[in-house]
Amino acid sequence: MIIALDGPAASGKGTLARKLAAHYGLPHLDTGLLYRATARTLMDGDARLDDVAKAVAAARGLALTDFEEDRLRGREMGEAASVVAAIPEVRAALIDMQRAFAQRPQGAVLDGRDIGTVIAPHATVKIFVTASAEARAQRRALELRGRGEAVDYHAILDDIKKRDARDSARADAPLKPAPDAKILDTTDLNVEGALAAALAITEAAIIRA
Ligand code: CDP
Ligand code: CDP
Repeated sequence: MIIALDGPAASGKGTLARKLAAHYGLPHLDTGLLYRATARTLMDGDARLDDVAKAVAAARGLALTDFEEDRLRGREMGEAASVVAAIPEVRAALIDMQRAFAQRPQGAVLDGRDIGTVIAPHATVKIFVTASAEARAQRRALELRGRGEAVDYHAILDDIKKRDARDSARADAPLKPAPDAKILDTTDLNVEGALAAALAITEAAIIRA
């Protein structure tokens, strides 16, 4: 069983992915971390985020230990990730490891932008998680403050709108629902409500499969 969760920043896809993975006893991959870690390698090396050769080398050189640092989940790295994620060669360098993860014999849960469209087009369940930009900005501001980052709601809303536009406009694997994805709008749902809706979609897909 492969569960594919896609959607814009702070829609709640990562939270749902972790909870669905725990519920079904499946491994989970947060694919955004791959792009965030690639961006961090470039920044640490004082390289430009649009240096294609260095970005590809950074993507190819990712190691498991690269995903532990708290800084990866911060605001700066989300923005930088979206710049490197628009480079087709970087996306290509990260495809095989994501597909290998999705093909694990026991199944897997993956969340990102292109799981249902590119990484696992034959996923058992595809959910496109979304919410208004304002709701997402409020969530992200709360989350970043909880992690000790001093952030302003309006600045976060601005980031989110810019990132939505960049992720949706890129030519390679743009942010858009797969034709067969179920859309889950979490604007007016809390985490429990969103999980109940995601479980209902998943159970219906399992019965069909
Ligand atoms: O958690 P949040 O949605 O804010 O960010 P993320 O999922 O960690 O993704 C950071 C950036 O990586 C996104 O804005 C995308 O540009 C890129 N990304 C992507 O292009 N494809 C994926 N499968 C996952 C992330
Ligand atoms: O992975 P993504 O960037 O889509 O979002 P996330 O990191 O899972 O969630 C962002 C924040 O929104 C978390 O702090 C959640 O507790 C909160 N939240 C949610 O995930 N779902 C809701 N329906 C309401 C709030």
